[in-house]
Amino acid sequence: LAGGPLSGRHALVTSGPTWEPIDPVRFLANRSSGRQGHAIAAALADRGARVTLVSGPVSVPPPSGVTVTRVETAREMLAACTAALPADIAICAAAVADWRPAETATLKLKKGAGTPPPALALAENPDILATLSAPGPLRPALVVGFAAETNDVVAHGEAKRRSKGCDWIVANDVSGDVMGGAENEVHLITEEGVEHWPRLPKEAVAARLADRIAAVFA
Ligand code: C5P
Repeated sequence: LAGGPLSGRHALVTSGPTWEPIDPVRFLANRSSGRQGHAIAAALADRGARVTLVSGPVSVPPPSGVTVTRVETAREMLAACTAALPADIAICAAAVADWRPAETATLKLKKGAGTPPPALALAENPDILATLSAPGPLRPALVVGFAAETNDVVAHGEAKRRSKGCDWIVANDVSGDVMGGAENEVHLITEEGVEHWPRLPKEAVAARLADRIAAVFA
């Protein structure tokens, strides 16, 4: 919306999983649907921000009024994010694969009688949130990460805020049906402390987060 509280601001949002190729037909991935990240991109655009959404492979529709860059791998996602800078706001909601196959076979791996299964050596992917959070002239004024945990959600979230160097962490418990589901129950962890938000549709979590972000830039 022109004249919205975030008009004139550029927001970069990552969303969805990454796909890390094993060979031309196989990949490593995860259960992220992109629903939360896409809802955040839409909510920021509704408040007047210019939004660049860098998305892994998802089936949710692209939000209207948002520029979408589609990527597959973590390394492509990092390149698309750095190419989108400068940004005032970065929200890393993507479930980036921590590891990728160290090598991608150019031909489909074949099984054969008497041949053992291939060993899958892994290499570490770049950390997009930590990279965007690193001090420097292109660091967005507000960087927000997500922490998907199955236990000790707040403690892990607080540790992650420090180790990644981001400003806020949205921490959620993914031991239930959150990943791929329609609702989310999160804690917002900032320098000031921890807020527990009620279980809400992902669109409502996005709206509430976007309102908090708009307040920072008011
Ligand atoms: O380290 P962990 O994956 O638990 O951290 C989650 C947060 O870090 C999320 O905001 C996610 O988008 C971001 N992340 C990233 N690049 C990675 C791994 C995680 O941006 N390679």
